[in-house]
Amino acid sequence: MKYSISVTKTTSPKEKPADESKLGFGKLFTDHMFLMDYTQEKGWHDARIVPFGPIPLHPASTVFHYGVEIFEGMKAYRKANGDISLFRPMENIKRLNNSAERLCLPELDEEGCLDILMTLVELEKDWVPHSEGTSLYLRPFMYGNDPHLGVHAVKNATFAVICSPVGAYYAEGINPVKIAIESQDVRAVRGGTGYAKCGGNYAASLRAGEKAEKNGYTQVLWLDGVERKYIEEVGAMNVMFKIDGKIVTPELTGSVLPGITRKSCVELLRSWGYTVEERLISVDELFEAAANGKLEEAWGTGTAAVVSPIGQLFYKGEEYVVCDNKIGELTQKLYDNLTGIQWGKVEDVNGWTVKVCNG
Ligand code: PLP
Ligand code: COI
Repeated sequence: MKYSISVTKTTSPKEKPADESKLGFGKLFTDHMFLMDYTQEKGWHDARIVPFGPIPLHPASTVFHYGVEIFEGMKAYRKANGDISLFRPMENIKRLNNSAERLCLPELDEEGCLDILMTLVELEKDWVPHSEGTSLYLRPFMYGNDPHLGVHAVKNATFAVICSPVGAYYAEGINPVKIAIESQDVRAVRGGTGYAKCGGNYAASLRAGEKAEKNGYTQVLWLDGVERKYIEEVGAMNVMFKIDGKIVTPELTGSVLPGITRKSCVELLRSWGYTVEERLISVDELFEAAANGKLEEAWGTGTAAVVSPIGQLFYKGEEYVVCDNKIGELTQKLYDNLTGIQWGKVEDVNGWTVKVCNG
């Protein structure tokens, strides 16, 4: 089912960024955004693309008080042949609906949501940057906006999509990042909202993130919330280790975000003949492997972060260097293949990319 989308174009389009090497992440936004409202009586209605700008909200809106908000992160790429395409967009749409279910927000029609994303990206296609390593980041999000303070599942919501031309998420680019393993704060627990992509998970992660940054680390690696023993994920990415030739990645226990880059990397690695173990891995096991010289590579996976080598791990006063603080061979191969598929330089044998329009 497609939603009927009205389009109001801006009368004052912005200048496109002249220097794509300075894009950074999520600082610039395109000319338009998508909005659609939900009420119990009407369901989803009033789907509209409008000029990018502030969204007025009632001061009692649920999102302000109880954090009823979910989001997604995905990218539109300009392929080598000029086509603009999305990467596995249905995976993001399904995850958005899983997040909605967890927070009692209304779900979206999957095909209708894809049509919304395609319509907006086509309208903003000139904003998809051209340089290698860049893309148009799409941030779909949904929030509850009942105008009263009772704590209940919302009856009113808004779905929105904004777009931002981006370069690398980390200042390090593809160079190894330094990660601090957090032993005090936890991000999520089983039965909580860890598997959902909701704003509250990120709010809960900020204190440890700030502490890590002050100490010179790029991001936090979270441990499980009960025993504080098992590795879960990094602030904005899932994590993988090459230990003695095998790949180990934390299993999806409910407190870890089921990353689409993670899933794609696992599928690629298995197709290359690697054994990939999705299982619990304790920080002790990891450091024992490091001490025995068996921790060969470590990397994170995420839409914003792509495939990001981990060069140093810090835990309870000790620092471990991984792969001589250089990008490992397999990490590089994953990065090259994944971005190769996204940028149309490597054949997309799995049909992961979805063409939106000609560039
Ligand atoms: N884990 C967290 C906490 C994230 O924010 C992200 C980013 O979306 C990921 C993992 C990676 O997920 P994906 O590969 O779907 O972008
Ligand atoms: C993403 O990779 O899309 C993310 O959502 C990570 C982060 C910017 C929150």
